[in-house]
Amino acid sequence: MTLPSLARFVFGRRPGLIPLRDRIAYAPYLVQLVVTRRCNLRCGYCNEYDRTSGPVPWDDLAARVGRIRELGALALEFTGGEPLLHPRLVDLVRVATQHDFPRRMLISNALLLTDEAIAGLNDAGLTDLQVSVDGARANETTRKTLDTLRERLVRLAEQARFRVVVSAVVGACPPEETLETIDFARAHGLRPRVLLLHGRTGQLEPDATVAHDYRAAMARLGGRGREAGGYRDRLLAGRAAPFRCRAGSRYLYVDEHGDAHWCSQQAARFTRPLLEYGPAELAAQFHLPKGACADRCTIGCARTCSAPDAWRAQG
Ligand SMILES: C[S@@+](CC[C@H](N)C(=O)[O-])C[C@H]1O[C@@H](n2cnc3c(N)ncnc32)[C@H](O)[C@@H]1O
Repeated sequence: MTLPSLARFVFGRRPGLIPLRDRIAYAPYLVQLVVTRRCNLRCGYCNEYDRTSGPVPWDDLAARVGRIRELGALALEFTGGEPLLHPRLVDLVRVATQHDFPRRMLISNALLLTDEAIAGLNDAGLTDLQVSVDGARANETTRKTLDTLRERLVRLAEQARFRVVVSAVVGACPPEETLETIDFARAHGLRPRVLLLHGRTGQLEPDATVAHDYRAAMARLGGRGREAGGYRDRLLAGRAAPFRCRAGSRYLYVDEHGDAHWCSQQAARFTRPLLEYGPAELAAQFHLPKGACADRCTIGCARTCSAPDAWRAQG
């Protein structure tokens, strides 16, 4: 993003926009918006999908995107379920572009990604795509693997005008396959990333094998793989890695019903309709300590979006 367009984003006026001082102090760096809960896969480690939901209606999504813009969010990421199952996903990205979000993002397993969809996403102004690729060969846990996705990733490398991150969940495939995925991504000019498996509350579940495999993957990634101060190393060493979680403010997860939560894994602990969300909620959630879940949290978005405000008080 250029400096003038960032200045337009920050200082530009639009109806409904919350005051500048509230946006600077509390606006989301990232909002993830579920466009359908339905997924075409059944990954063994995932609890964020079903097989039956329909696409969220267009008018509801358009209203949610508008409210997220009014809250001053810097990045909007469409997720699911599998977002490519939404028939108007490309139109939705176009709406995000028309709203001037500096980053218009998508997270997908890419199994349904056609050349036509890549062209549509280019034209609509997508800036970032995260493709989930766990390893080289499909197994009982995951089919997000190079044997099913290789061709599509090559096409993406050739055709996408947006940044493509290839993201692997460590532990879903044998460790040498994680390394193969990292090498494949690099060889094609895509950006590799690795994630740690979280349990049903977003916490790291200690596992010596996963720790070993994760360290091997990080060694292959080099320094760029570290996120939010390398908190995962501390978690894997069996220690707590407390942080001032700013979820509900700097990071929001908005589900298919339009309810905002701290994250996908703590949905039951905090629910507020997005359309009623305003500066008071952002400020309250910014200052609210989230309790014990923060100490062993491995939700990357919550960690990275909280890091810039680590110096600010909470509670
Ligand atoms: C819920 S999926 C939704 C988007 C899309 N269906 C996909 O597979 O990318 C979003 C991301 O969460 C990751 N994920 C799901 N369950 C996880 C878990 N228990 N631990 C770590 N990452 C997980 C997936 O691998 C994927 O990268």
